[in-house]
Amino acid sequence: MNTRKLGQSGIDISTIGLGTNYVGGHNLYVDVDEDEGVRLVQRAIDLGVTHLDTADAYGFGRSEELVGKAIQGRRDEVVLVTKGGILFGEHGSGVNNDPAYLRGALERSLKRLNVDCVDLYYIHRHDGKTPVETAFGALMDFKREGLIRAAGVSNFDLPALQAAASAGPVDAVQSCYNLLQREIETDVLPWCEHNGASFVPWGGLAYGLLGGRYSRDFKLHDNDWRHRTGLFDEDVFERNLDTVDGLKAVATTCGSTPAHLALQWLLSRPSVGSVIAGAKNVDQVADNVAAENAEVSAKDLASIDALTKA
Ligand SMILES: NC(=O)c1ccc[n+]([C@@H]2O[C@H](COP(=O)([O-])OP(=O)(O)OC[C@H]3O[C@@H](n4cnc5c(N)ncnc54)[C@H](OP(=O)(O)O)[C@@H]3O)[C@@H](O)[C@H]2O)c1
Repeated sequence: MNTRKLGQSGIDISTIGLGTNYVGGHNLYVDVDEDEGVRLVQRAIDLGVTHLDTADAYGFGRSEELVGKAIQGRRDEVVLVTKGGILFGEHGSGVNNDPAYLRGALERSLKRLNVDCVDLYYIHRHDGKTPVETAFGALMDFKREGLIRAAGVSNFDLPALQAAASAGPVDAVQSCYNLLQREIETDVLPWCEHNGASFVPWGGLAYGLLGGRYSRDFKLHDNDWRHRTGLFDEDVFERNLDTVDGLKAVATTCGSTPAHLALQWLLSRPSVGSVIAGAKNVDQVADNVAAENAEVSAKDLASIDALTKA
């Protein structure tokens, strides 16, 4: 598995990472199979994936518990990543970036993951009230104390990124990015490129859409978090499937698959450090790992790019 540098941290991460919001993510998906969740994390590590992305909010702590279980005895093989700042359980709802809250959240995450330190910790989103410098400054304290090795922010806009960087090095920026959602290309991506931050896209497969398996009569369950992405709203969904048809046509021409092309396209974008592909079973993990070695020419990448370029 190829690796790339994680910002200025000195840590290397596998270019194909694993997103674990399905692992124990009972608040996000229906019919979550916890045993398969543990198996798919272990399968990813077996296949050379080192970059494991979770968050305290996934399954309200359950994802971290299961990831912690899956990596037992294998802590040294992984770059363990989690996020805090989203409220749940006894803390209520909403977002809180207050340093005292973030410290408590990190301590609870470490406990659930059963580790002394995480390799990368993100502020999951900005709360709109704590000064960004103060919030990100707290992560600098955690780093000095050895609780985290690198610091990142998720879902921050450009002004918030600039403010965070004034408190210390931003090693990673995680935001939504895929062939169907390219908004961050105008400002966030160039900022990462110029400031040496690794960009980590979430939703790289457009939540399954770019896997090419959904037909026009596909319906999400009422309790599936993907309603929030907007990509499955009736009229938008039809248009997205037209784009997926274009992706499938390129895949047929070059002997690849839509999922592999979507992941390769992301890895070809400036400053992208690693793609945290989500998966619901071990076969999807294996397929996403195989995307790394998919042979995709510059011409094919340009064809894919043209499908949705503004
Ligand atoms: N920072 C944030 O705010 C934030 C927000 C969301 C997610 N994330 C992180 O980003 C990760 C990735 O995002 P995501 O999981 O929501 O979306 P994603 O990676 O775009 O899509 C994952 C979904 O695509 C389908 N899939 C996976 N591999 C496939 C393959 N090889 N071929 C065909 N279909 C495949 C599966 O859904 P089906 O089997 O149902 O089709 C899977 O659940 C998450 O796990 C999480 O760690 C972060």
